[in-house]
Amino acid sequence: MTLGRDKLHFLNTPTPIQRLDNISEELGINLYLKRDDLTNFGTGGNKLRKLEYLVKDAIDQGCTMLLTVGGAQTNHGRLTGAVAAKYGLKAAIVAVDPYPGEMSANLLLDGIMGCPVYLVQQDGVHTDSELEKAAVAKVTKEWEEKGEKVYFIPVGGSNELGILGYYDCAVEIAEQVEEMGLEDVRLVSTVGSFGTYMGLAVGIKNENLPLRLTGVGISPKPHGLLNYGMKYYGRIKEYFGDELKDLEMTEADFNLTSDYDHGAYNNPVKEVREAMYYMGQKEAIIVDPCYTGKTFAGILEMVKKGIIKQGENVIMLHTGGIPGIYTKHHRVEMEKELADFIHII
Ligand SMILES: Cc1ncc(COP(=O)(O)O)c(C=O)c1O
Repeated sequence: MTLGRDKLHFLNTPTPIQRLDNISEELGINLYLKRDDLTNFGTGGNKLRKLEYLVKDAIDQGCTMLLTVGGAQTNHGRLTGAVAAKYGLKAAIVAVDPYPGEMSANLLLDGIMGCPVYLVQQDGVHTDSELEKAAVAKVTKEWEEKGEKVYFIPVGGSNELGILGYYDCAVEIAEQVEEMGLEDVRLVSTVGSFGTYMGLAVGIKNENLPLRLTGVGISPKPHGLLNYGMKYYGRIKEYFGDELKDLEMTEADFNLTSDYDHGAYNNPVKEVREAMYYMGQKEAIIVDPCYTGKTFAGILEMVKKGIIKQGENVIMLHTGGIPGIYTKHHRVEMEKELADFIHII
């Protein structure tokens, strides 16, 4: 129970915090990973923490079906399908995206877990958000006619209630850091739909936790990350009302960077793949090309530029997303670069 809201308990928390000894030595920092890629089903990832709250709310409202939105390769959609499977609910995903020509990565996992994906095609007339809205209404109606009560979850599970998953995680990390005897820790989180970062930021401030948070944006937002964040924060203050009445956050409380987003969402980027190979070959840990690979590539750059100081204690939140390595447009690039690792004898 956090801020008066209850949740389901299906996670194997605390997830471990592990030191990356080889990379730490090479970079001259103490780099740790908070392993939220190891949350325990649907192949894991950050969205399960948000879904503990959101699906509890859905069940309390008597809903029988979870409907969410995202790209065709949405990790959040896959994990929404996973929780639905586990709790005997129906689930579906709406994505304004072309079919990638193969049922790989998250699309395949969605099918394995029984979650249909509705791929809406662009029509050259309507915006993506108009198309998405219309498709959500259509799919909702279809399923309601079949007797389901539909609970809608916005992209990434990043609404007001969804932040509580990472509010709790901030508390969990602070406890682990204390047990480990670590001081002056910088926590680095990926920023996509913003719920993860916002939960951590609000948790750290409201609970007065000794963590410095840096958010690495992985795709540009039309009016900038900070602007987006401040508006989201305003909605959170309103939603939680009295429970957060003493919380006062200003722009100075949000440490965000867009310097490592490489200009687009989920685009293939050589530096990001190189960071993925570095992590794989030094630590045997897989990061993904859309989220955690970009964040890790950002950390490497920040060390190079001296933004992250020598000797600094850094915990990168590993938010999962590993199925993303199997998406076609990333895989074809890696197949070229890694071709020398195949020997046909
Ligand atoms: C693997 C992974 N990491 C990070 C994120 C970003 O989290 P958020 O959307 O809460 O900012 C997402 C979600 O979009 C994700 O799937």
